[in-house]
Amino acid sequence: MNAEPLEIYLEERDLDRGLRHDVRTGLTASPKWLPPKWFYDARGSELFEEITRLPEYYPTRAERTVLQRRAAEIAGLTGAKTLIELGSGSSEKTRLLLDAFTRRGGLGTFVPLDVSVSALRQSTEQIATDYPGLRVRGIVGDFTRHLDRMPTGGRRLVVFLGGTIGNLLPAERAAFLAATRAGLEAGDWLLIGTDLVKDPQVVVPAYDDAAGVTAEFNRNVLRVLNRELGADFEPEAFDHVALWDAEREWIEMRLRARRAMRVRVLDLSVDFAAGEELRTEVSAKFRPAGIAAELTGAGFAAEQHWTDPEGLFGVTLARAD
Ligand code: SAH
Ligand code: AVI
Repeated sequence: MNAEPLEIYLEERDLDRGLRHDVRTGLTASPKWLPPKWFYDARGSELFEEITRLPEYYPTRAERTVLQRRAAEIAGLTGAKTLIELGSGSSEKTRLLLDAFTRRGGLGTFVPLDVSVSALRQSTEQIATDYPGLRVRGIVGDFTRHLDRMPTGGRRLVVFLGGTIGNLLPAERAAFLAATRAGLEAGDWLLIGTDLVKDPQVVVPAYDDAAGVTAEFNRNVLRVLNRELGADFEPEAFDHVALWDAEREWIEMRLRARRAMRVRVLDLSVDFAAGEELRTEVSAKFRPAGIAAELTGAGFAAEQHWTDPEGLFGVTLARAD
């Protein structure tokens, strides 16, 4: 069975408007910053997939271990008819859930939502082929904006994997959880993957790998700005930086200017001093008590919290109260 045509909540012009707004806001701020969602053009999505296979990048493997062990339980506890995946990317680990739901029976529709059209095209085609009988409704959308249009259709399970919630700033995270809850009915479910606080000697290399794939992923945002906005960044003139912030318990990715330079983007002239850093991503790490408190604050009850045997990564199943 072929996937249905992608549903577009986010048109090209919305993306363009959003990018222009974020670039104007972030590059005129001090310190300079950009939101991480602009990493994910076709090349950025491919680089992320490459990151997930790196020896240093433990989150994907650890989360997969949890899902391998718990998928059947998740299918049984939730009894979902509709599975909605936010920031779905390749949906590779989600197949473990789809397999469990297929064995159990009852899941009718899978709805992956992502800003990356290329990732969504590939994943929906492959999943529709591999799971005949499952309705696959891919949505091009922004999980910080479109949760008020959460698809309906029986008991719902929303999954947000990979630790992507950690890429939201704390206020954005609270708004995201509240919007997710508002889009659901009491009794619906949320399954959320969170990378856990651990020794920075394990975390930092995951964001600064020896092969330099994460550095390329980081610089890719400058390539997106060059292509989409006609900016004249020299990506190679920026060093990749991954920094552990012990107080806020998050990794910050930054791009550090190797020398003083002036970049033209939109109608702006943006000056970088030698050594000046542009923040491109935060990736927050969590503690189990903190996750439960944030979920409770948003109107969810955390019912189950699982980790991989090494305790690297957490997966929490919460019910909308
Ligand atoms: N869930 C997958 C992919 C994680 S990568 C996994 O666990 O491996 C993060 C994904 O979120 C990318 O596919 C990216 O395109 C998407 N994404 C980032 N910001 C987004 C936003 N604001 N709205 C929708 N998708 C977003
Ligand atoms: C998608 N997200 C959870 C990844 C992370 O680990 O924060 C993105 C990433 N950034 C650098 N490497 C991977």
